[in-house]
Amino acid sequence: MRFGTPLRYPGGKGKLTSYFERVLEENDIDGTYIEPYAGGAGIALNLLLNEKISEIVINDYDPSIYAFWKVLKEYPEDLIDKIKEVPVTVEEWDRQRTIQSNKQVAGLFQLGFSTFFLNRTNRSGVISGGVIGGREQTGPYRIDARFNKTDLIRRIKKINGLSDRITVLGLDANKLLKHILPRYDEADTLVYIDPPYYEKGNLLYMNYYVHSDHEDLEKTISGLKHRWILSYDDSPDIRSIYGGRVPLKFELNYSSYESRKGAEVFYTADDLLTPSGPVVGIGEHMLIDQGC
Ligand SMILES: C[S@@+](CC[C@H](N)C(=O)[O-])C[C@H]1O[C@@H](n2cnc3c(N)ncnc32)[C@H](O)[C@@H]1O
Repeated sequence: MRFGTPLRYPGGKGKLTSYFERVLEENDIDGTYIEPYAGGAGIALNLLLNEKISEIVINDYDPSIYAFWKVLKEYPEDLIDKIKEVPVTVEEWDRQRTIQSNKQVAGLFQLGFSTFFLNRTNRSGVISGGVIGGREQTGPYRIDARFNKTDLIRRIKKINGLSDRITVLGLDANKLLKHILPRYDEADTLVYIDPPYYEKGNLLYMNYYVHSDHEDLEKTISGLKHRWILSYDDSPDIRSIYGGRVPLKFELNYSSYESRKGAEVFYTADDLLTPSGPVVGIGEHMLIDQGC
């Protein structure tokens, strides 16, 4: 299952699914998989669709992202009808953009759909990014280049078939890790922590972190009893915050802002077994387009 998620996401990690499948297997976990910073939730959905895990918890503090997942879970038929009927035009893009600019007064469905529409029609899926093809639609790709209605509806239907095994939350991740995570079985849960990037997080996400937030997260993580994996963009500050730990390092192909191979670092709980064999992110996964 390559593209389970209907969201394009800067830093989306769906391509690492097979690595996570091996982690689950080696650690004998098939109960719950939790993403406190879910974004496009690519790995979570793939694990569920591939029947590698019984349930997933996808949490994102960004009200727009939360609204999309909530709408997908609670109002799939309305979402599908809206996708069928919406004109994929610059005029509609302007309308949807206005909803994002006034999100505090938007209804859940309105906000969730607007997030989806902009995610599929903006450059690199960045909500604050410009429209694919430009306002004059003179670029090599047009606004609907990533809006294949049939395929998107197919993905939504597939996910919705499993919706009773999906929990959608919109909490601050620290709160989730401290107060919600303890409700889950320590022996049968994997937590994948993928916070906003240390560098450029402010350009990519509506909700991002400053240095002290990254430090606070480290304190929370070091107190976790559940097994976890953490990933970051590789920066000297992150290496310093996690100085006592040895990272797994790998390369991931970024599509946002710069087309370059960006280095990421992964850290894991001391008691998590990590698979031997190919390093994550290298091999067949590198061939998959990030901006799916
Ligand atoms: C690196 S992205 C996650 C990408 C995701 N793993 C994927 O594969 O698509 C980080 C996400 O964290 C969310 N976020 C930012 N601050 C947060 C917070 N305090 N609590 C929970 N989520 C937060 C952002 O909205 C963004 O979606």
